[in-house]
Amino acid sequence: MRLFYNFMAVLLILINTACSDKSNGLYSPDGSVRLDFSIDENSVMTYSVMVNDSLFIQPSLLGFTEKSGVALSKGMKLQDTEFTSADETWTQPWGENKTIRNNYNEMAVRMKNDADVSLVVRFRAFNDGIGFRYEYDIPGADSLFVTDELTEFNIAKDGVSWSIPANFETYELLYRTLPISEVDNANTPMTFKSGSVYASIHEAALTDFPEMTLKRTAGCCFKSELAPWPDGIKAKVAGGKFTTPWRTIQIGSRAVDLINSSLILNLNEPCKLETTDWIRPMKYIGIWWGMHLGVETWYEGKRHGATTANAKRYIDFAAENNIDAVVYEGWNKGWENWGGSQKFDYTAPYDDFDIKEIADYARKKGVKIIGHHETGGNILNYERQLDDAYKWYSDMGINSVKTGYAGGLPDGHNHHGQFNVRHYRKVVETAAKYHTTLDVHEPIKDTGIRRTYPNMMTREGARGMEWNAWSDGNPPYHHVMLPFTRLLGGPMDYTPGIFDITYERIKNSPDRKQWNMKDSKDCRVNTTLAKQIANWVILYSPLQMASDMIENYEGHPAFQFFRDFDPDCDWSKALEGEPGEYVVIVRKAKDKYFLGAATNEDAREVEIGLDFLEPRCTYDAVIYADGDDADWKTNPTSYMITNRKVSSEDKLYIKMARGGGQAIYFRPVE
Ligand code: NOJ
Ligand code: CA
Repeated sequence: MRLFYNFMAVLLILINTACSDKSNGLYSPDGSVRLDFSIDENSVMTYSVMVNDSLFIQPSLLGFTEKSGVALSKGMKLQDTEFTSADETWTQPWGENKTIRNNYNEMAVRMKNDADVSLVVRFRAFNDGIGFRYEYDIPGADSLFVTDELTEFNIAKDGVSWSIPANFETYELLYRTLPISEVDNANTPMTFKSGSVYASIHEAALTDFPEMTLKRTAGCCFKSELAPWPDGIKAKVAGGKFTTPWRTIQIGSRAVDLINSSLILNLNEPCKLETTDWIRPMKYIGIWWGMHLGVETWYEGKRHGATTANAKRYIDFAAENNIDAVVYEGWNKGWENWGGSQKFDYTAPYDDFDIKEIADYARKKGVKIIGHHETGGNILNYERQLDDAYKWYSDMGINSVKTGYAGGLPDGHNHHGQFNVRHYRKVVETAAKYHTTLDVHEPIKDTGIRRTYPNMMTREGARGMEWNAWSDGNPPYHHVMLPFTRLLGGPMDYTPGIFDITYERIKNSPDRKQWNMKDSKDCRVNTTLAKQIANWVILYSPLQMASDMIENYEGHPAFQFFRDFDPDCDWSKALEGEPGEYVVIVRKAKDKYFLGAATNEDAREVEIGLDFLEPRCTYDAVIYADGDDADWKTNPTSYMITNRKVSSEDKLYIKMARGGGQAIYFRPVE
């Protein structure tokens, strides 16, 4: 059968003509995934997916609807089907893996209807999943109002799923483990296991379209639900041509295959920037956690965090501890109205923050500054200042900016609709103009845009560390859920590394009464210390933060891991894991390896073969493990550091406490 389809492919490229066969099939290069497209006598378009010869996605609808009646799906007639394939290797300036193979077979199905609407549905089948997108061409149409996307994902067999609920304003929600048939709606990536196959539904290359969420319509069938404009329209298109983002299903036989897949990046456009030598991964610290705990303030006053003296103290610490950069929040005028008018001024520092002096000081010490732009959601105010703000920073040598959108958007827009997707893109392009890299908080979900714009380095887009400061916090399973869900889209600025796990130092401080610290006795970090260290490896971010106040690192033996850590990795591999249960990931940076292992609420032992190390080479392994009596709830700061000589032929037993983890630094012995 497979041979037959390959033969068909060659034939169809050669003849490239109208095809009388109303059903077309496509295999992945290794033959494990098969995708079929079909259009029936009523012009209903569907696709289905087989994995290892078993039905995985049942026939699922394709198409769109439009407000003024332009038929985006109706009356389509097959014109021709073109089969092509690609097998190429490309490189990126940074990433979990710097070298990536892009190997797929493609089927472009061309259709047309009586209203002269041309549609190509372009399918790609990879060994690690499928992607498809719609390419419309409607001559004479000057604008289009897309009212609905009909795309379905009709999962053939019920199973277990891991996702957050669909929400057009935020991704900072807790993950749910649910039978697929009990998920009412979900944001993507939605990961699931059906039969013995793991998969994740997401999208790639979201550039000028609303985000796609999933709504269950029946059984295990999900339909695309796009984030709307305030008037209910989903996407507004100028001119008659538009191409949608890719709809993707990553597929693997093990859960970690999804983490090791590069499908999302492979479906993005190659790099558009002329040069990328100004983009590099960094480790950073910042004036940040104190504000979340209520010890310091973002606004000017007697507890102001971002003062000149404090800024220099952080620069000194960075210079002394092999840390590349420092972020300062609460440095500019407008914080006194956060939650109110949200009128931040991006070129007006507070009087006690002498930015020029700080920038000079940092330069002399060889430390970079990461600027900060909180918008409070007032993107009109931000866009008015955008160019000036990035130029002003850049003129001072500040070429990395953390942005934030904590607050509602103007005029009834939501955070994830097409309007804001365009805004996020505009910021990426403006930053690139000034050779500036970005770390976006309250972002649009990551769909692999970093391939095209590698200055779009990292983003939040899930519950990060901040939630532990002022809520019940992120439960232990959260960190072992993220790599199988949120991080399938791309890097996350989770900001791991809180060492004062239960906030003992500040809770016991005589100054406590002056602070706005939440009194809840549950406010704390819900992991062991060793797991905080492991998360620097597991939760991949090319800008990786040690998020605690530096007082909590001073003199702490376990901080040596961050000093040694290299965020500029060349290669990564998820070795083992199950969503929400545990994960083990290893990354290589130059000749060193960093391994992170973490578990949920259950204690666990995992045996790991070290065959990823260079053969015939001895390594000094520095192991940061949970203490024998460690427990995230009752004894989170019990840890031990041990050294061992190992080689690629060895195995390690990784023992993790409840809510614990382990981090290992492998350094070749000279
Ligand atoms: C939310 C961000 O996630 C956090 O990192 C930041 O400190 C606050 N907004 C203030 O900008
Ligand atoms: Ca946030």
